[in-house]
Amino acid sequence: MTRSLSRAAVPAALLMLIVAVLGARPAAPPVDNGLARTPPMGWNSWNKFGCNVSEQLIRETADAMVATGMRDAGYQYVTIDDCWQVARAVDGTIIADSTRFPRGMKALADYVHAKGLKFGLYTDAGRKTCEGRPGSYGYEALDARTYAAWGVDYVKIDWCNSEGLDAKTQYTIFGEALAKSGRKIVFSICEWGSNQPWEWAPAVGNLWRTTGDIQDRWSSVVTLVDLNAQYWHVARPGAWNDPDMLEVGNGGMTRNEYRAHFSLWAMMAAPLIAGNDVRQMLDSTRAATDIREILLNRDVIAVDQDSLGVQGKLVQASPSELQVWVKPLADGSRAVLLFNRASVPSPITTRWRTVGVRAEKVRVRDLWQHTEQVIADPTYTALVPSHGVVMLRVWPATD
Ligand code: GLA
Repeated sequence: MTRSLSRAAVPAALLMLIVAVLGARPAAPPVDNGLARTPPMGWNSWNKFGCNVSEQLIRETADAMVATGMRDAGYQYVTIDDCWQVARAVDGTIIADSTRFPRGMKALADYVHAKGLKFGLYTDAGRKTCEGRPGSYGYEALDARTYAAWGVDYVKIDWCNSEGLDAKTQYTIFGEALAKSGRKIVFSICEWGSNQPWEWAPAVGNLWRTTGDIQDRWSSVVTLVDLNAQYWHVARPGAWNDPDMLEVGNGGMTRNEYRAHFSLWAMMAAPLIAGNDVRQMLDSTRAATDIREILLNRDVIAVDQDSLGVQGKLVQASPSELQVWVKPLADGSRAVLLFNRASVPSPITTRWRTVGVRAEKVRVRDLWQHTEQVIADPTYTALVPSHGVVMLRVWPATD
């Protein structure tokens, strides 16, 4: 057939063939471990406790996750971050700190499981963790088998001390090791967005950091939001952008700022990994009540955990500090966030058309006030506090 084509036509035909083949090829499939069909929810020790981790802290946190209602609201994974590990045995097996974890990781995992929760650990794909503990480079298969034997359900893998290594290659090695470990383990990639993970991580892990570390202050939240928002089109069930763990309850932001932080994470279908001292949520203080109202807000959690698995995005920013974000949801409704980044309160107005709801009348639920109304007006205005949000769920009204 090629012979019958003119010389000029050959390259063109070849090009068409290449385009057809490439175009028909499906995008790289997400990691097929069947996990994290909605963004992972849980708790991690790092933001509040840093290296000060222990068996007692993890047990008390697991107890508090049950007592506060965190578990029943969907928070599942209890993860020990850096500093639980001290050395490797002669055969290479990783050794936990026996002073801080006297009964060992298997017993701790059993305790967490008995509470109806899941157990997570941290390691590093490089030679050492960020805090200088043994890394997993060269020990990926052994570590994956060890975690599986201990009953680990979630692994966060960092990227410190990885000079000269290729991120995609190393995380792929780890992903394969976890797949062969004999246990279903959520794979959390943590290379801070420094090697364009949005391009390869969906085929390797369940979630990947898109940013550097969060800090417990407002400027950090907005920085991370703007970075993470860029990759909205990549997120899908089983594969999520991760703008880092929550700071809600750690004391560095106002109530409005923490509400905005939590709402934005839900709009972006981000993992909801609490980073506070859950034990303090049992207090009868005003601060503890505020934290419970935020972390246990089921209306907002439902937006994050929606089965459609679409990451919400910015649809209106005029002026740039007064924003409207939209996230389509599985039942045909939309979550709408009015977000005031300015330092003064301000009304924000949007049109239902702008947020993609086309109906004569809409049913609107306010996800922080927990109130509902039916509205016939094509526009909506709310006064939004400084560094605050108004979060809505909007359905076309049927009556
Ligand atoms: C890095 C990660 C953090 C945390 C620390 C632990 O900075 O990004 O989330 O895990 O390491 O050392």
